[in-house]
Amino acid sequence: MSVPDPLLTPVGLGGLTLPNRVAVAPMTRISATGDGRATSRMAAYYARFARGGFGLVITEGVYPDDQYSQGYRNQPGLATAAQARAWRPVVDAVHEAGGAIVAQLMHAGGQAQSNEHREHTVGPSAIAPRGEQLPTYRGSGPFPTPRALTLAEIAEVRRGFVAAARRAVEAGFDGVELHGANGYLLDQFLTDYTNQRTDHYGGGVENRLRLAAEICDDVLQAVGSETTVGIRISQTKVGDREHRWAGGSKDAEIVFSGLGQVGPHYVHTTEPDATAAAFDDGRETLAEHARQHSGVPVLANGGLGDAEMARAVLRSGGADVVSLGKAALTDRDWVRTARDGRGPAPRALFDLLAPLADIKDSELA
Ligand SMILES: Cc1cc2nc3c(=O)[nH]c(=O)nc-3n(C[C@H](O)[C@H](O)[C@H](O)COP(=O)(O)O)c2cc1C
Repeated sequence: MSVPDPLLTPVGLGGLTLPNRVAVAPMTRISATGDGRATSRMAAYYARFARGGFGLVITEGVYPDDQYSQGYRNQPGLATAAQARAWRPVVDAVHEAGGAIVAQLMHAGGQAQSNEHREHTVGPSAIAPRGEQLPTYRGSGPFPTPRALTLAEIAEVRRGFVAAARRAVEAGFDGVELHGANGYLLDQFLTDYTNQRTDHYGGGVENRLRLAAEICDDVLQAVGSETTVGIRISQTKVGDREHRWAGGSKDAEIVFSGLGQVGPHYVHTTEPDATAAAFDDGRETLAEHARQHSGVPVLANGGLGDAEMARAVLRSGGADVVSLGKAALTDRDWVRTARDGRGPAPRALFDLLAPLADIKDSELA
């Protein structure tokens, strides 16, 4: 009797059942109109992954409100009804190709490089993110120092995520993923060095997690009965590839059990190498910590483009789903290739992401 391929068995995430356990990781491709509307080019781009067999497509980070959330020029939004309408053909194209699609909602906070609505940036505290702006997203030099959000503005950020999640449902998305990773606003709150607040959003890990947990709860209350709601979490950031949570495994327990109490339909962890120990004080990966403490399905991401490695992560119970970024870009038929043990020669990543990270003509067919 042949053993089933762990990549190819179905899995449920909330009310959504995926035909396999391979997702496209969220990837910003700055190919929307200047006012943040998704385009037919994006529909062709996203549908191609579904045609290639990926059970789930997670969109690039989409900005939720018309205040401080936009991060990049030509980034798509879900901040207005017009932006929501523009997503409909993208969603339909992915569905017609047999895939499911989740919108990643991302507030850039202090990591914003361009915002057509506001001149300056905001964050938990007036502390600039580490690192430099990304030239492939038209940025250069250090990030400016953000202005610290007031409590009233934090409440507005929360309402922005809820309204965007409602628009995502109207546009036909199968779910929303809250971007709590990679140094964007929710991760700026979680991170000790960017969050120096003295109110209930600052201090210990529980307080720094509060905004992400509140937004997760708000969005679940608003749309959770009709759509899948996930949250993405990382240690590293766009401009800080070395960051580790100071409390190690203890912090992981607080973060993931805190999120588990709120009860999203999945947690999506990302690390440069998803198979590496997350902390010096133990051997578990970040995804394993998430699985152990959250009690919800976990998507693992980071360097899992080798099919045998991805299988091993699923087989060992290290995660319920793997998500692929760069490997999906270089082989849109990755799922078929993994199934058949052979496939097309991978494309060169550099050609796709330079000089800008926008969608190239060759990615549409
Ligand atoms: C071009 C590009 C754009 C990305 N944009 C996003 C994004 O919008 N949101 C996000 O959470 N991660 C983003 N990432 C990170 C990926 O989702 C993923 O975590 C990372 O590429 C590591 O996974 P991999 O080794 O499978 O590529 C991006 C990565 C790439 C290569």
